[in-house]
Amino acid sequence: MAESIAFTRSASRERIYAEILPQIEALIAGETDLIANLANVAAVLKEALGFFWVGFYLVKEGQLVLGPFQGPLACTRIAFDSGVCGHAYTTRETVIVPNVDKFPGHIACSSASKSEIVVPLFDASGKVFAVLDADSDRLNNFSNSDAAGLKAIAAILENAMGPAGQ
Ligand code: SME
Repeated sequence: MAESIAFTRSASRERIYAEILPQIEALIAGETDLIANLANVAAVLKEALGFFWVGFYLVKEGQLVLGPFQGPLACTRIAFDSGVCGHAYTTRETVIVPNVDKFPGHIACSSASKSEIVVPLFDASGKVFAVLDADSDRLNNFSNSDAAGLKAIAAILENAMGPAGQ
């Protein structure tokens, strides 16, 4: 397994996503454990994109429970009808929130978080099994390029969950 990732620090996010995608694919191809893979993906995203907070909430016991992440301490449990994460879970859509203070029901794990993107992850039967959440300490810091890049990463994780995965 590679011990580090390579990317162009000064490049656009779009280019960085393109550079890290094949490396994430290679990382995951060598490992079948979901938590291990989510942990490494959170680490890669933190290092390459510099997000304030990035990680996963897993569908467990009828709610979203904190999974692997990088960044400050976070809320451990989120109800399906709460917050941006709950909204992504119930609508099954990627949600971009340019200003979290203007999103009704946003859960402020950290007051430094200003904008957010949440991408749902689907299992082989089409159920959402997790959400990928990235937070920024700047307003309006997520675009359609982030949605496309993070969805492509989500797809790699979803494929690893197939019959050959866990
Ligand atoms: N802000 C999220 C909660 C998770 S944290 O940002 C890590 C939400 O409203 O769902």
